[in-house]
Amino acid sequence: MQQINIGMIGGGTVGSGVFHALQHKGALMTSRIGVKLKITKVAVKAIDEPRPYKIPASVLTTDWTSVVNDPKVQVVIELMGGIGLAKKVVLDALALGKPVITANKALISECGPELFAAAEKNNTNLYYEASVAGGIPIIKSMREALVGNRFTHIYGIVNGTCNYILTRMKNEKAEFEAILKDAQQHGYAEAEPSLDVDGLDAMHKTHILASLAHGFWVDKKKILVEGIRSISQTDIQFAEKLGYTIKLLGIVKETGPEKAPKVQISVYPALIPQHHVLANVNDVFNAVFVRGDVVGDTLFYGRGAGKDATASAVLSDIADAAQDIVNNTPRRVPAFVNYGAQAAVLPSDEGI
Ligand code: NDP
Ligand code: HSE
Repeated sequence: MQQINIGMIGGGTVGSGVFHALQHKGALMTSRIGVKLKITKVAVKAIDEPRPYKIPASVLTTDWTSVVNDPKVQVVIELMGGIGLAKKVVLDALALGKPVITANKALISECGPELFAAAEKNNTNLYYEASVAGGIPIIKSMREALVGNRFTHIYGIVNGTCNYILTRMKNEKAEFEAILKDAQQHGYAEAEPSLDVDGLDAMHKTHILASLAHGFWVDKKKILVEGIRSISQTDIQFAEKLGYTIKLLGIVKETGPEKAPKVQISVYPALIPQHHVLANVNDVFNAVFVRGDVVGDTLFYGRGAGKDATASAVLSDIADAAQDIVNNTPRRVPAFVNYGAQAAVLPSDEGI
């Protein structure tokens, strides 16, 4: 049976989660896909850094180039985060014709067109299931299971840290800063937590979903973004008295006539009626509604952040990349092509 050797850049919350998950689930995956999977090298910043799960020193290195350029490494996983160096890692690996897997939504949202073009040019793939909504298989569901649908509405809770903070502020009347510290300790928050609380992480994810749904990248200047930093206990208690719960939503709407559709993206804290299903999505959980013109409404729910849930999404990309190599079908993942939609000007406040 063929073995696929995998090199990973980043062995922190998600990276160590992936290493641990593959150690424990590798045999199950092999029995299902008929390919052996092995992480042979992991690049980190400091070998002795404590990690959520142990990675043996024998596979660790501080030189990421030795992972990407190793001729035995067939698949590269980028889990270091950030944009500058991560972009170089991804482009270098793609230039070598190696499939790349990433959980880095900031990178995909900021540099998507360049990265996907590089993948196409080198006849390989860029997989990014873990970049949106943690363990929820939203990318693959939209790209494959719902491929026959035009997506008129996508909206939901796509940032686990903000949902965790809002849930605990409501239930325990706890203060914002203390809960954010807990979210960081759980490994939910970004290395730079302002990305979470100021709505940018949710914007990146919503931007990715919009590109997948509509086949083009909306100019980010046209996206309304508001985070949860200014939400106070008073706002939360007041909303509750009126029968609402405050949730940070990412929203993609197709507006305008079918022949000349416009796409509108927004991210903001919204008042959700307490009986609505989204009002009852709590803690680190995410939920995404996708409305297709054939299927109607679908709802995806699960853990939106954390080492194990995110590792589950990366494992699914590993399985795809490995099967694509073994079957010699490097361009199996289709990209949606724009059907004529354009970015709308700044969103209105008409809600979801
Ligand atoms: P961490 O900060 O926990 O891990 C980052 C890893 O990258 C660390 O192992 C670090 O090394 C390593 N690293 C940093 N710089 C370098 C370098 N120059 N060379 C080699 N390795 C380097 O981040 P996360 O695991 O939380 O996040 C990783 C990515 O996954 C990010 O893009 C994030 O947005 C995304 N993501 C995170 C989720 C989560 O729940 N945390 C969920 C979904 C996506 P060292 O360990 O030595 O410090
Ligand atoms: N910081 C992100 C969140 C990680 O809290 O949702 C998952 O993408």
